[in-house]
Amino acid sequence: MHRMILNETSYFGAGSRENIAVEAKRRGFKKAFFVTDKDLIRFHVADKIIEVFEKNGIPYEIYSDVKANPTIANVQNGVNAYKASGADFIVALGGGSSIDTAKGIGIVVNNPEFADVRSLEGVADTRHKAVPTFALPTTAGTGAEVTINYVIIDEEATKKMVCVDPNDIPTVAIIDPELMYSMPKGLTAATGMDALTHAIESYITPGAWTMSDMFELQAIEMIAQNLKKAVDNGNDTEAREAMSQAQYIAGMGFSNVGLGIVHSMAHPLGAHYDTPHGVANALLLPYVMEYNAESPAAPKYINIAKAMGVNTEGMTQEEGVKAAVEAVRQLSVSINIPQKLHEIGVKEEDLHQLAIDAFNDVCTGGNPRPTSVEEIEALYHKAF
Ligand SMILES: NC(=O)c1ccc[n+]([C@@H]2O[C@H](COP(=O)([O-])OP(=O)(O)OC[C@H]3O[C@@H](n4cnc5c(N)ncnc54)[C@H](O)[C@@H]3O)[C@@H](O)[C@H]2O)c1
Ligand SMILES: [Fe+2]
Repeated sequence: MHRMILNETSYFGAGSRENIAVEAKRRGFKKAFFVTDKDLIRFHVADKIIEVFEKNGIPYEIYSDVKANPTIANVQNGVNAYKASGADFIVALGGGSSIDTAKGIGIVVNNPEFADVRSLEGVADTRHKAVPTFALPTTAGTGAEVTINYVIIDEEATKKMVCVDPNDIPTVAIIDPELMYSMPKGLTAATGMDALTHAIESYITPGAWTMSDMFELQAIEMIAQNLKKAVDNGNDTEAREAMSQAQYIAGMGFSNVGLGIVHSMAHPLGAHYDTPHGVANALLLPYVMEYNAESPAAPKYINIAKAMGVNTEGMTQEEGVKAAVEAVRQLSVSINIPQKLHEIGVKEEDLHQLAIDAFNDVCTGGNPRPTSVEEIEALYHKAF
């Protein structure tokens, strides 16, 4: 048996943000609670949404107390601000951080018994759908606009909590590449590699099936063809558009079949060192791919290599594995992703604790190769 949960309505394409007004009207919403972060205000990305509100006479209130790798406090302050605002729907603009914060807010507002946020970790049995949310990604990206997950830091426990809850999926997703043009190179590179990690991890997870494979192979191909172009020239509108769609397509798959230990190992880096999520994934991905090649997923690697653009004709399974890992590493190096953990401020003496945290992460269950704290620690050492 397989389950697919997707947005009710999604729009794609340059300028598609205008549909905020169309959908708000169609659904009878009166006032927007606009969740975004301070950098998006500073870089005038938020203005592009405010214009739509103003032009269409939609009252709104801005909430921008969202940090990258958002915290429980970001959610709780948002819940209070939402209640005080008189809004009846949420518009979330941002990368995964703003969209995830909005999801947490929307869930807690309608399920107040989870006001501590901590109790939402893992699969929580909320009874009510979140406040109706329109999600507009500005990175390409987490796919958070189409996933049933959100990730919040518990600062007291120095832990990134992955919350899985079908009630949190945004009602409307609007994938407008114009909201992504202002991403600097490093952010384009890191978030694009996050999307590639989603595609590869969910392509080889044991729950993968015909439909998720279809999404993930397509996403890998689009990312392989467009990520470097988008990094090299942020105004390459075709590459930006392809990346905006590829990250959404990857999200359609991984949200429904799960991820693996690249994500398990990336989350503690975010919690302990505030490492950007995409950088952590990008750095770890080739190491974990090598490790996971010793699993029932091995025969699928040659398809990854092919989607990455490698000519795989006549290759053995073993050669396919090597080619897939090599192609991913080459792409990562070509867009200046750091390749070792010591380069990004990770401390060797922390690796044991990080391995314990990673092993206990919700994503570990989706890994194709059964693993242990010891083996994860060895992988961290290899990447160090
Ligand atoms: N919900 C999910 O399914 C899911 C999946 C993967 C990751 N995540 C989570 O998402 C978060 C990471 O999100 P992210 O990688 O999208 O980045 P982010 O939201 O953390 O943003 C990083 C920085 O980039 C800035 N930024 C974003 N878009 C910009 C633009 N267009 N122009 C200029 N600056 C811009 C932001 O203001 C912020 O300062 C992590 O907490 C991660 O764990 C969630
Ligand atoms: Fe991710």
